[in-house]
Amino acid sequence: MSGKFYVTTPIYYVNDKPHIGHAYTTILADVLASFHRSLGDDTYFLTGTDEHGQKVENAAAKNGILPQQHADETVVRFQELWKKLGITNDDFIRTTEERHKSIVRQIMQTLYDRGEIYKAEYTGWYCVGCERYFTEKDLVEGKCPDCGREVSALKESNYFFRMSKYQDWLIDYIKTHPEFIQPAFRANETLGFLKQPLADLCVSRPKARLSWGIELPFDSEYVCYVWFDALINYISAVGYLKDDKEFARRWPASCQLIGKDILTTHSVYWPTMLKAMGVELPRTIFAHGWWLTGNTKMSKSLGNVVNPMDMIGLVGVDAFRYFLMSEMTLGNDASFTQEALLRRYNSDLANDLGNLLSRVVKLTLRAGGVIPAPGEPTGNEEEFNAAVAEAVNGMRSCLENMKLDQGIASVLNAVRAGNRYVEQCAPWAMAKNNDTAHLNTVLYTVAANLRKLAVLLAPVMPGKMAELQRVLGGGEELLTIGDLASGSFADPAGRTVIESDPLFPRIQIEAESTPEVPKKEKKEKKAAPVQEPAELVTIDQFCKVKLKTAKVVAAEKLEGADKLLKLRIDVGEAEPRPLVAGVAKYYTPEQIIGKTIVIVSNLQPATIRGAESRGMLLAAKAGKDLRLVTVDGDIPAGADIG
Ligand code: ME8
Ligand code: MG
Repeated sequence: MSGKFYVTTPIYYVNDKPHIGHAYTTILADVLASFHRSLGDDTYFLTGTDEHGQKVENAAAKNGILPQQHADETVVRFQELWKKLGITNDDFIRTTEERHKSIVRQIMQTLYDRGEIYKAEYTGWYCVGCERYFTEKDLVEGKCPDCGREVSALKESNYFFRMSKYQDWLIDYIKTHPEFIQPAFRANETLGFLKQPLADLCVSRPKARLSWGIELPFDSEYVCYVWFDALINYISAVGYLKDDKEFARRWPASCQLIGKDILTTHSVYWPTMLKAMGVELPRTIFAHGWWLTGNTKMSKSLGNVVNPMDMIGLVGVDAFRYFLMSEMTLGNDASFTQEALLRRYNSDLANDLGNLLSRVVKLTLRAGGVIPAPGEPTGNEEEFNAAVAEAVNGMRSCLENMKLDQGIASVLNAVRAGNRYVEQCAPWAMAKNNDTAHLNTVLYTVAANLRKLAVLLAPVMPGKMAELQRVLGGGEELLTIGDLASGSFADPAGRTVIESDPLFPRIQIEAESTPEVPKKEKKEKKAAPVQEPAELVTIDQFCKVKLKTAKVVAAEKLEGADKLLKLRIDVGEAEPRPLVAGVAKYYTPEQIIGKTIVIVSNLQPATIRGAESRGMLLAAKAGKDLRLVTVDGDIPAGADIG
């Protein structure tokens, strides 16, 4: 069922070097494009730069150079970063290119000739930063409603696009096309905005005020408004008014990715522009949330902007891509910290995925180096195979529903099931006992399943997953998700594995600067506020105990304590918490990582065997057995229980 897929990113301003937000949207587009290529779709991926307008003119002036020169210098930084990040865009459009400018001029002229653009006197307010006009009532406390900066009073003649006449049509279109603006709450936001009467859009700037733009074909005193110019890139790049065949092949776009900051321009200006031109609307405009530094908005003035190059240096390109894709739930904001990046690297990639690979490679090398055909079932295959099948299906549906983080989680789930499988089977013992019939099954099952999981993760981590395939004897063969359906695909039997360095070597995390919790004196006896009757508690008393769900994100044995595991648990707070639990006799670190458990979240902090612990997990104990209390179904970490 292959089809076509055209994905775009915003075109980024060349006023400054790229930061993590730009990297994020571009990686996301790359991952989507790679998935669709892997599914056999006719895929096209466009990105580029927005080079006109006030911001770029100002940045150039600050550097004492011409805007074009400034753009030429800055665009390289974007292009180099994309190369470094392994971005597979099919085209890169710059709005200062003639191929784009000529289309903008043609569109302008046509709309002007048809009376869709007219000249009028404008009086009102203008925000230089946002390059947008506002009426008196738009202002918030006299300032720009978008960025909060000062606005200046303006009175000048300008050209206007009759956007207002499309208001009712747009409202109706959004209501009847739920797929158009995603996630759905962003469609509601746009509909909310459209409750106010929509004004016509000022699409010109007098050259006397701003000269850095595309000159209007019908009035050389003016240049085109930067947003009107920029939005057109999505069609000028794929043959609009130039190559009908190419345009019909690509347009309408399947998915136009944007950050939530530019929702109005894409959900109001853009569709009304297309409507006026008589061009079909894109299928979906998808707005993702913000990456925050910890819990704070990233901004140059706060000096907390994360530089993607630094993060690549820290964990490598693929792990950085993996973190961004798995950590953000599409549509919501997400928090970026170096600690979280390293933690996820160590738990998901080093401990889980890397470990499973090195286990099967080592065991296979010991058995002669060739992946064997399966022997007799051990009886433990079912759970692992089911988890892999679930990942294969899960990834497809998660992709369709823009729930990439969940798709990735389902793959990691299968990886963990793989590690459990290896532990249950104990193939090292099979090898020792010459139990080849079972050993072969284990080696084969792990290799075959790992290959499938690598295919699913390849769009996210193209380099590392290709390496994984090579290590398992797959050579340079590029397997696709399309191949997953075919029966012979997973058969790695007869291939020679390659001895190799760990795929994701553990990164030592420097001692985190959690303040030392002073050692409590042995069990300070608190005056027990037990009420009559002794066995019963009131609701109020019970409510003092704050139970919450928590996700175990890391676990390790506590040095010198055979009963204790040192966990890091996500309780929906900015940072995961440390928690020491006496469950090491019942759960290995691998088994507990990824579980959503229940904790007492407001327990006084304690230091147990030198390790900080904030909270207590709940478990059921009967005789010699102990089982963790978990929740029935999917619920985020940090949910209240009561
Ligand atoms: O707005 N978190 O360009 P721009 C997530 N030229 N994404 C972020 C982000 C963050 N903290 N910061 C930026 C423009 N982004 C216009 C677009 S399109 C016709 C013209 C990403 O350089 C996100 O995709 O300000 C956001 O929409 C985009 O960068 C804005 O880039
Ligand atoms: Mg911006």
